[in-house]
Parts: sequence; C-alpha cells; structure tokens
Amino acid sequence: MRSLHVTGGKPLFGALRVQGAKNSALPILAAAVLAEGVSVIRNCPRLTDTEAAVRILREVGCRVWEDGDALYVDSSGPVRPEIPSRLMREMRSSVIFLGPILARCGEARLSAPGGCEIGARPIDLHLRALRSLGAEIEERGGNLNCRAKRLRACRIDLPFPSVGATENTMLAACLGEGETVITGAAREPEIQDLQAFLNAAGGSVTGAGSSVIRVQGRERLHGAVHRVIPDRIAAATWLAACAAAGGDLRLYDTEWRHYRPVLHKLREMGCDLQTGENLVRIRSTGKLKAASPIVTRPYPGFPTDAQPPLMAAALTAEGTTAFQETIFESRFRHVPELRRMGADIRTEGRTALVWGVEKLYGAEVTAADLRGGAALVIAALAAEGESRIYGLQHLDRGYTAMEESLAELGAEIERKEDGDG
Ligand code: UD1
Repeated sequence: MRSLHVTGGKPLFGALRVQGAKNSALPILAAAVLAEGVSVIRNCPRLTDTEAAVRILREVGCRVWEDGDALYVDSSGPVRPEIPSRLMREMRSSVIFLGPILARCGEARLSAPGGCEIGARPIDLHLRALRSLGAEIEERGGNLNCRAKRLRACRIDLPFPSVGATENTMLAACLGEGETVITGAAREPEIQDLQAFLNAAGGSVTGAGSSVIRVQGRERLHGAVHRVIPDRIAAATWLAACAAAGGDLRLYDTEWRHYRPVLHKLREMGCDLQTGENLVRIRSTGKLKAASPIVTRPYPGFPTDAQPPLMAAALTAEGTTAFQETIFESRFRHVPELRRMGADIRTEGRTALVWGVEKLYGAEVTAADLRGGAALVIAALAAEGESRIYGLQHLDRGYTAMEESLAELGAEIERKEDGDG
C-alpha cells in the first residue's frame, strides 16, 4: 500500500507556485462540451480528478490532448449523450457534465453520483433547475434519463447557494432560448472563472460573483482559450502547513483576495502575512495562538475546504479554537486520526473544539477524504517523530505531487510503497 512517510519538526522555507484551481478546471472542462470546436484550457492542474474528467470527455466523443500545462479539448464532432456509471463513480463532481450534455445533445443518460466521503451530497437542486429549464428527467434505480428538445429560459431561485447547481444551470442555460436569471446563486471565484470561459466561447453570462446571474441563451458556442485561476484551497493548505511547522514561505501565482478569511484567521493565530500582486508571504515561528471561532460559510465566508487544514494548524496553538461546519454534514473525519497524533479535540454534531496541546507525535493515520488528508499531512509536519499517512488516492484528487512541493521547502517527506523500507 502507498503511504507518505513524514518526519516532522522541519520548518518550511522557500517559494512555491500555486497550481490551477481544481474546482474551476472541472466545470470548465465540462463547459468545453458545449463549445463546439477546440478549447485550450491553460493552467489546468494535473490531478486524478482532472484525469477522470478527461476520461468522460473522451467517452462522450471529444478529442483531448495535452501540451505543457494546457489541455486541448476538441468537441467539434458529435457528442454522445451517455456517461457509463464506472466513470460517474470515479468522481462525484461528474454530475457537472449533465447540464452541458443535455444542452448540446437534447438528452443525457447517466447514473446519479450518490454520496461521498464528506456527506450525502444530493443533487436535487441541480435537477430542479434543469426541470425549470424544461428538461424531463426520469430517475430510476439510480439512473438519470434526461430529455429536452431545446431548453427554455426561466427564472431559477436557488434556496441554497450550491456551487455545483449554480454551475450546472449556467452551463445548460447557455444554449437555452432567451434569458435565464439565477437568483440565490453561489458567488465563489470559480463561478466567475466559468463565466469568463463561457463568454470567451461566445456565451453571454453576467453577474457571476454576485447572487444574481443572467444567462442569455445562444444558438451555439465555439472553442475558447482560457487560463484557469489559481487554487485558493491549495494556497490555504500551504499557508496552514507553514503556520503549523514554522518557516518563511512565499506563494506565487496566487490571488489572496479569494481567501481573505483564511488570511484573517492565520493572522489571529500570530502568523506574519504579507500580500502583493499574485503573491503571499507567511512567516511563522510555529508557536501559534488560538483563533476566534471558525465557522464555514458559502463564499465570501470561510471556505469549508479550508476547515481541515486550519484545524491541523490549531492543534498546537495556545488556547481553544472552535470550528463549526455548516456546509457538509460529515466533515470531521480527520478528527479521530488527528487524535492518534496526540490532538485534543472534542466534537458535538457540527462543532469541534480544539484544545491546543504542547506537542503532536508521529503516528500511522489514514485519510478519509481530500482536505482531511491534507490536515493529516500538516499535523505530521508539525509532529515529533515519523508519521505514515495512508489513503493517498484522496490527496491525489486535489494536489499535484504534494510531497514534492513540501520536500522542496525542506520537509522530510517521501512517498513509499510498503516494502520500500
Ligand atoms: C463544491 C466544491 C467543493 C466545496 C463545495 C462548497 C467543486 C468540484 N467542489 O462542491 O470542493 O467543498 O463546493 O464550497 O467545485 N446540496 C444539496 N442539493 C444539491 C446540491 C448541494 O442539498 O442539489 C448541499 C450539499 O449536500 C452540501 C451543500 O449543499 O451540503 C453545498 O454543496 P455545493 O455548494 O453544491 O457543493 P459542490 O458543488 O458539490
């Protein structure tokens, strides 16, 4: 079995380029299905999740190839309306292909993605929005059978600002008839990035970044060239790692305005943070103070994906830090593993209270989800002695060769197959 071997106690020094955003790249790859022609998606991160998206694109008939940091997607040929369940299962966010395939083909057949590690993750809001646009959707035995001759514009009021449902609606409405207005839309930077791609492809979308998005339907979209925005959660992860392990780290190719609440909490914890154009510098002694309560919220609130990394940084902070998770129902699966390393955490429902301990100790731990896995790596970097972290398939969904970046900064970290010694 593969694991990361980490010997903690080494501060992180140096500079790191932040990868392109996974959560932008995935909907934009799905949008390439709509854009008849060749799209060039630059700064596309190399992750198992983007590889899964590429397999779906190929399955539905697109040609995809790579050149440097760019992915080329040619969707000029006919698009097949079906995604087999084995591909749907590889990645929960594959449901983002539903809107584009339906809009492009007039039909879509795929299996419902089901739950995942961090919660049930229903898709009722996606389906409700597509039905409002005129799609007929049959749900049978976990399969979705969708039809719509041409989607009709309408007004869609999302009762919760779901990121995926907002994106799926924007994507489908791009080829609809008339102007669709989405109210209660999610406001995440990744939604603005999707809007930028769609407009570059000849679409007419306005309002992303606010809670009202307007999409003027077009007969067709064409291929576009686009550079994916930097990953704000990867940036938050590196900063939390430096906060916990100590050191002096410069991140470049990063947009700090996308993660202000994370910077705010790290400052409260006693880190020295400086921001510049596409740049953040953090200096930390590794001796931290507890932050005021961290409550996850839709953007522009504190991001749920940064909750586990920040919790890892809070483990040795002086005082008590409260975490409240309001977005996903089971997003504390890193807690029992962190306890194995000596953390003092009490959970009740969606709240976790972290009592800072003097020291963490290396242990054998297993990642149960992507960001929880990142929390284990951060705790291991700050711990005394050696840790082994299993469950790397989760980490590889969202971080490009995480151990290589950390090793460059001075961490003692290696990926090994059991039996490698
Ligand atoms: C996206 C991100 C994920 C991030 C999350 C919240 C991608 C690929 N993933 O996920 O990293 O953690 O936003 O910022 O961009 N919900 C429903 N019904 C629906 C849809 C969602 O009840 O139809 C619920 C979910 O179960 C969850 C909450 O709404 O509790 C937020 O989900 P959503 O914003 O849709 O997250 P994702 O788009 O799945």
